[in-house]
Amino acid sequence: MIATKRALITAMLCGAVITGWCALTFADSRQGPAVHTTWATYLGSADASHYSALTQIDRSNVKQLEVAWSSDSGNERSFEFNPIIVGRKMYVLAKNTAVVALDAATGRELWTHQPASMGKRFEVHRGINYWQSEDGLDRRLFIPFDNHLEAINAETGQLIESFGDGGRIDLKQGLGRDPKSMYQIQSGTPGAVFADLIIVGSETGEDYGSPPGDIRAYNVRTGNLVWTFHTIPHPGEPGYETWPADTWRTAGGTNCWGEMSLDQSTGIVYIPLGSPTYDFYGADRKGNTLYSDSLVALNARTGKLIWYYQFVHHDLWDYDPTAAPQLLTVEHDGKRVAIVAVASKQGFLYVLDRATGAPLWPIKERPVPASHMPGEEASPTQPFPEKPPPFARQSFTVAGLDPYILTATDRARWKKVVEGAINQGLFTPPGLQDTLEMPGNRGGSNWGMTASDPAHGTMYVVSMDIPAILKNERSAPPSLWNLPMKAEPPQLGKSIYHFYCQRCHGAERTGAPPAIPSLVDAPSRFGPDTIKGVVRYGLKDMPGFPDLDDRLLGSLLLYLKDPSSAPGPVQTGGEAPPSESEAGPVRYWTGYGLQPAIISPPWSTITAYDLNRGVIKWQVPFGDAPQAAADKLKNTGIMLPRNGPVVTASGLIFIATKDEGKLRAYDQDTGKVLWEVNLPAASEGVPAIYEVDGREYLVVCATSPKEAEVPRDGPPPPTAEPVHRSYIAFALPKK
Ligand code: HEC
Repeated sequence: MIATKRALITAMLCGAVITGWCALTFADSRQGPAVHTTWATYLGSADASHYSALTQIDRSNVKQLEVAWSSDSGNERSFEFNPIIVGRKMYVLAKNTAVVALDAATGRELWTHQPASMGKRFEVHRGINYWQSEDGLDRRLFIPFDNHLEAINAETGQLIESFGDGGRIDLKQGLGRDPKSMYQIQSGTPGAVFADLIIVGSETGEDYGSPPGDIRAYNVRTGNLVWTFHTIPHPGEPGYETWPADTWRTAGGTNCWGEMSLDQSTGIVYIPLGSPTYDFYGADRKGNTLYSDSLVALNARTGKLIWYYQFVHHDLWDYDPTAAPQLLTVEHDGKRVAIVAVASKQGFLYVLDRATGAPLWPIKERPVPASHMPGEEASPTQPFPEKPPPFARQSFTVAGLDPYILTATDRARWKKVVEGAINQGLFTPPGLQDTLEMPGNRGGSNWGMTASDPAHGTMYVVSMDIPAILKNERSAPPSLWNLPMKAEPPQLGKSIYHFYCQRCHGAERTGAPPAIPSLVDAPSRFGPDTIKGVVRYGLKDMPGFPDLDDRLLGSLLLYLKDPSSAPGPVQTGGEAPPSESEAGPVRYWTGYGLQPAIISPPWSTITAYDLNRGVIKWQVPFGDAPQAAADKLKNTGIMLPRNGPVVTASGLIFIATKDEGKLRAYDQDTGKVLWEVNLPAASEGVPAIYEVDGREYLVVCATSPKEAEVPRDGPPPPTAEPVHRSYIAFALPKK
């Protein structure tokens, strides 16, 4: 059945199946610049183009930009928030986890709304949704928080109690699974608003037994569920046959945790769906498992599937597409064609006809390596776009080892590891031995990293080159399920240490020097930001733990600073992950194995595509990594960026950086830096561009610690200075 399906898809050379609405005309669907003069929507507009038609700031005057105002974000946490601006009001996330309304011309605070905590404190970290009624009298904000969706009055900041159950809806309900079996379900990305609907994706987790990533649309007034699109098809729905029978009851993931883009003129929402779980071993989910790793085009009013295109069959690499699909209109074979372009983790840009899902240039199924894991059946082929060229490096060997920041000893050791790893190129399935994944599962493009000039066919992709080394084992890595989320912070930190750190650094935190350093007095010896960075991304032999967020790391630091503040036994989560039997008897796990520092720079780039011709116009390194400062290297690209660009009708691209904490303006024609400024803190996320009283502003969220410039093999860096976290607006001097 599955083989037949694949043959059919190969024969069609496009993998797209049209299930209706094919008669739509796109003649008037051009999202010309007129709609891009405000920033009342996450990423600028419904089409998520990160584009502003405002032209006051241009190439000739960008050097004159100065700080118009800055607003302290409360000095507690790092945010990666794309502010939205409605009229004179700006909405940001600040003060721990509150929605704060600011005067967009002065930064003066108007009100603060703290969403109700349901114990876990998951938050929407990337942005917020805004809706208003046709007469403009009813104005609402929607914020996902703690697995609920809250509706807030955008004028006053008050909870709207008539929405859902007293102002919020429980996102764990209605997925056909026991809510107690779910850890996290809400996404950190806000979703999309269309007519009177709010459409949301989810973050289902990556492990066995996670819930399905159904896309859901709720009525903005009542909170009633209006439609659900089953991303894992139920019996009778198309695509059901691409999964083993009955797995729809237990299979999970296949979710939109990143961004969706909406074509307002046709009412079609374009949603990139992620990998099925578990990410790296799929013996219990054999087949192509639609609609995993696919772009689905849904009727935004009804949730009905119009077409889909699958980028990865039977994902074993965590290659979920995440960045906003870009909706552009290009010149193609003498015609104006409405397209959708999706940037992926594997470094390909997939360019499809927006009405039908047919590729603009051929995408060919090519043979890829087989899996040697027990019970596993990797797909024999994967789709490879012939055009445009990829934006990221897609292979890595010892020849590409970092000649700079690794020491000679490390280089020799990594040479052995890389030479010994299974390394058969893109789509090499993870095995029981070290397996090289390039781009790794955090490589290529990710949320927030695409932008375009929709009417002129140019698209910009931020991308990272990061190898990962995967190795499947029978033992599970530590899980958030183990943690007592409601415990006092030091107690929570003690549990994190117990489950995540103790097996290497020891019960007494003394490590095993020199191979494993002692963590006694670690915060004062290494500095809190170094510890956070090392724990997030790993360091050489130490694996990274990307699931530990800012709050959890804060608790861990409190414990490491003063272990006596957490007396008594180690507490556990008290919530059990779903039982073994649910996903089949044999399970394997691997760490994410990210190794950002073993590959030669540039570690990240910005690529400009001309999609009229299907070519790369230019590609430049994205910033200077402080990690390479000891080697006096410039233009290395920062490591593991979490930054997205905004582009303007006046020929500029603005983008800030994490780690080094800079804000830059690039020339759209050449990729040259035209202006650069040091921010008081590092920045993550996407800036916003807006206008109040005829003055154009650019606002950035600068709330993350900068990376210290540490001399290699030198003494540990001094304790970092306090971070001045704020939202900062730039504008031209007042005349
Ligand atoms: C699998 C073993 C392992 C685990 C688990 C582990 N570490 Fe490590 N850790 C190491 C090794 C090995 C190093 C030394 C890395 C190097 O410099 O080569 C290290 C280094 C460190 C450093 C020193 C960084 C520096 O700048 O020199 C810190 C801080 C640290 N670990 C904290 C933690 C914390 C906190 C946890 C738990 C969240 C943890 N580690 C979990 C093995 C581990």
